[in-house]
Amino acid sequence: MRIDVLTLFPRMFEGPMGESIIGKARDKGLLDIRVSNFRDFSDNKHQTVDDYPYGGGAGMLLKVQPIFDNIEAIKQERPEVTPRVILLDPAGKKFDQHMAEEFSKEEQLVFICGHYEGYDERIRTLVTDEVSLGDYVLTGGELGAMVMIDATVRLLPDVLGNNLSAQTDSHSTGLLEHPQYTRPADFRGMKVPEVLTNGNHKLIEEWQTKESLRRTYLRRPDMLAAYELTPQMEKWLAE
Ligand code: ADE
Repeated sequence: MRIDVLTLFPRMFEGPMGESIIGKARDKGLLDIRVSNFRDFSDNKHQTVDDYPYGGGAGMLLKVQPIFDNIEAIKQERPEVTPRVILLDPAGKKFDQHMAEEFSKEEQLVFICGHYEGYDERIRTLVTDEVSLGDYVLTGGELGAMVMIDATVRLLPDVLGNNLSAQTDSHSTGLLEHPQYTRPADFRGMKVPEVLTNGNHKLIEEWQTKESLRRTYLRRPDMLAAYELTPQMEKWLAE
């Protein structure tokens, strides 16, 4: 997958996008991330990227020209590909696992990270998606883009060591993940549930499903409302 990021602060991406699973995916050639500074595309001699809003109002807006030229340069590199162009905006659609799954199917993603009070409205004509990380305002789109890249890239084939782990995650199945344990079986009197240690796979699976259901019921009733329960699950919930 190819990912381009447009930002005024390219250095913010240097550490986080070079470590751990994302760093390994880049080393393995599964992922090519390019970060560009759209200030470099400003046609103004002072390389300004923001200006006052017409009609007045608080704060500055990002100008349309540098971002247009930067996106056009990116598109010219691979004219055969139509990238998904994502504008980071607290007023956009809220990012979730489903969106990460959609993004992971694309050949190329382009993230536009804003700063200041907002965007010149004409920038929106370039984009396919306007996305928010959540219902709060950040100082800029960079952290949001990094979160979205991380959630998307781990879904790419061969990025996670164990391909099954992405499919069984909390949020992929529609229920939260059940509790898990590793050795020792007894730590300071806190014991691993017996059922997990006795090797009966049918009972283990039943316990895991029940615990997923319990956890989702207690912590995220909103997720449970959207989930299609099996008759057995209905029975457990009624217990
Ligand atoms: N820029 C500022 N706040 C943001 C948010 N919540 N999501 C995406 N981009 C942002």
